[in-house]
Amino acid sequence: VTKNLLNGLGFGPTLGMAAVPDAVIQKYEGSFFSFIKGVLGGDLQTLAGGPLFLLLAKYYKDYGPIFNLSFGPKSFLVISDPVMARHILRDSSPEHYCKGMLAEILEPIMGDGLIPADPKIWKVRRRAVVPGFHKKWLYNMVNLFGDCADRLVADLDTYAAKNQKLDMEERFCSVTLDIIGKAVFNYDFGSVTKESPIVKAVYRVLREAEHRSSSFIPYWNLPYAEKWMGGQVEFRKDMGMLDSILTKLINRAVETRREASVEELEDRDVGDDPSLLRFLADMRGEDLTSKVLRDDLMTMLIAGHETTAAMLTWTLFGLSSGDPGLMKEITAEIRTVMGNKSRPDYDDLVQMKKTRCALIEALRLYPEPPVLIRRARMEDTLPVGGSGISGGIKVLRGTDIFISTWNLHRAPEYWENPEKYDPTRWERPFKNPGIKGWEGYDPNKMSEFNLYPNEITSDYAFLPFGAGKRKCIGDQFAMLEATVTLSMILNKFDFTLVGKPEDVGMKTGATIHTMNGLNMIVTPRSDTDPIPTTNDWWVQQHLSRGFNVNG
Ligand code: HEM
Repeated sequence: VTKNLLNGLGFGPTLGMAAVPDAVIQKYEGSFFSFIKGVLGGDLQTLAGGPLFLLLAKYYKDYGPIFNLSFGPKSFLVISDPVMARHILRDSSPEHYCKGMLAEILEPIMGDGLIPADPKIWKVRRRAVVPGFHKKWLYNMVNLFGDCADRLVADLDTYAAKNQKLDMEERFCSVTLDIIGKAVFNYDFGSVTKESPIVKAVYRVLREAEHRSSSFIPYWNLPYAEKWMGGQVEFRKDMGMLDSILTKLINRAVETRREASVEELEDRDVGDDPSLLRFLADMRGEDLTSKVLRDDLMTMLIAGHETTAAMLTWTLFGLSSGDPGLMKEITAEIRTVMGNKSRPDYDDLVQMKKTRCALIEALRLYPEPPVLIRRARMEDTLPVGGSGISGGIKVLRGTDIFISTWNLHRAPEYWENPEKYDPTRWERPFKNPGIKGWEGYDPNKMSEFNLYPNEITSDYAFLPFGAGKRKCIGDQFAMLEATVTLSMILNKFDFTLVGKPEDVGMKTGATIHTMNGLNMIVTPRSDTDPIPTTNDWWVQQHLSRGFNVNG
């Protein structure tokens, strides 16, 4: 019954677009009841019988790097190919592809903020916001990260004293919320130390944004939904609360405005307010009456918080569930670089190469978000990539596209032993002459200013922060923030995973969360404990794969 019903509704993948020969209807593998629940709830995850990106991974194995996925009347072109991703993200103009349904979903929360913004607004806003992320600001931020991570360390101390388990995913969410609040509007959420109605409102808004992004019925647009629909009534209240705080903060910044040029602002001593809001409010030419300033700040609050928390969560998971030699190696690096300091400075972070590899490896296995969403605003032809389809693939105007970063990051065509959490891989080149037009991964392409292997070094098989003009604006910020936080906690504590790694599970919305929390026991380390000897574990990893580490 389910199969017939689904085939009738057209649920499942069909191969490619016009240029691809066969049309295949794949049977739906969830239960009939989960299907009905999914339809009623408008929820793609329930309909897909689990996280959508896992369904896309299964179809990738069956159908290859490009296929068309239909949910009733809706259909998406699913791409898992670096050459095509490079074309869409880097080579096409920002006017060619927009955020499509992602913008429709996020608009009620982020307005015209940078993530959902249409190409015209985006161009103006990106130019306005980028200067705020200047080098000196990032230097200042390292101090702020240390202040917030200090609170986390104090919190872990109390758990260590009680030998009581705690959920590290929750802790990482709190510390990254505190950091983004201070960095973006100089507002202290204080979420590591207390629960407040505002913090709860932020989390509920995030959950609602995630639910919307995995929904194929825009239930929030139903007539008067905000008046009668359970979650929507609350959502409106929460948004009201956040908006009124933001308005107060913006008004305060406007009242104390000291206009200056970008160059003057970059050199200025920020005193006790290093926030982006202060920078933008003082920037000559910035229109402070416009709603886009509010939209951009709200966007950064949402975009810069759980993404970094997820990177930290999956790094700690990888380190504590993998080869113990790896954890020792990372701890040894941190302790050697930090010496007797309780927090690292910028130069220390630059030296912590292995730690940064451990963090970026988590984004390979758990990309945040696991799909990038685009809509073609005009007709296009995608180049041939790993698909091997000759003649290119025509994309019609209006086509909704999912670029599956999950599939790209885990494909055996582009990565050696792809399912393994292995931070050492970033120091070894990888090529596959079988893939037309893909240059492979080359660590030597990394410039000295880059804190992490990226889309350039991997020729678009690795997109941890997206790529092209709409690449993440907070990539360096996030890498520094995560390196400070991770190094400060690993410098002081040992972490033991409670239960089996399989029990951690996965669920997703905009980012990939654990299903059951990242439950850990923390044990304090004494300052006099010796730095672990690693027996050159890291080097052995290269040698055992036939690489001469001396070049
Ligand atoms: C865009 C990931 C941290 C602000 C993006 C995109 C990705 C991403 C993949 C591209 C989306 C697309 O192409 O559709 C991440 C990850 C982070 C992180 C994995 C942490 C580990 C941050 C932080 C901020 C931030 C800390 C702000 C302080 C933004 C903004 C955009 C963006 C404003 C939109 C850029 C534009 O369209 O011009 N991020 N991000 N992100 N991110 Fe991040």
